[in-house]
Amino acid sequence: MPDELMVREVAFFYLAASHTSVHTLVHATHELFNWCANENKTPEEIVANPHQLQRFVLESMRLHPSSPEAWRRAEADVTLADGRLIPKGDKVVVELQTANRDATVFGDDATEFNPQRTIQGRISPAGMSFGGGMHVCLGMNLVAGTVLRDGEAPNPENHQFGTVTLIIKELIERGMLPNPDQLPQKIEASERDVWATYPVLF
Ligand code: HEM
Repeated sequence: MPDELMVREVAFFYLAASHTSVHTLVHATHELFNWCANENKTPEEIVANPHQLQRFVLESMRLHPSSPEAWRRAEADVTLADGRLIPKGDKVVVELQTANRDATVFGDDATEFNPQRTIQGRISPAGMSFGGGMHVCLGMNLVAGTVLRDGEAPNPENHQFGTVTLIIKELIERGMLPNPDQLPQKIEASERDVWATYPVLF
């Protein structure tokens, strides 16, 4: 591999790992605070059961994928499941954010945060947020943990909760709360759904 390509790949690895995890952490924490305020629960009650917290995190990942879309170029003519032909060389945009809010898959409340939703079949509760196929996210199991599908039970011997769940659990157990005097702000100028600041108190 030429040096400049190696530099590009290494830079990509840091971006792919850190930018995604950081924004996912803040989105999931915000959804947790919001849900607890609406449901009259405390974040401590939710994090006490890390399996439950992991569902909160996966549901937040579904609604807020780090990349709203993924691109592919067809290496050969490809016929899609619905019969449409993608000719060799064509570029296809996979709209992860739109797919993740498909009401036929996630139900009529697909645009809402509902960590208790039931999803039929082999669909990930995080939707398409980690891509799929041979280029599926390399860090998926690290950040999301073991992703259980419809009807699967966790294996107590080796269940992984993922770094985002474990970090939120630790922060909430140490008393993290949103700062009532400084409201969080999103980056208005960005087309991506990302927070600029999220002030908290301990
Ligand atoms: C919440 C956190 C993360 C999200 C939402 C996420 C999302 C994604 C998505 C959607 C892709 C596929 C892009 C495509 O299909 O074009 C991808 C690829 C990738 N991710 Fe992640 N990612 C996350 C965390 C991480 C972490 C922690 C690492 C490394 C430790 C990582 C490393 C990679 C790499 C190397 C690829 C490229 C894989 C390939 O092209 O074969 N990601 N990620």
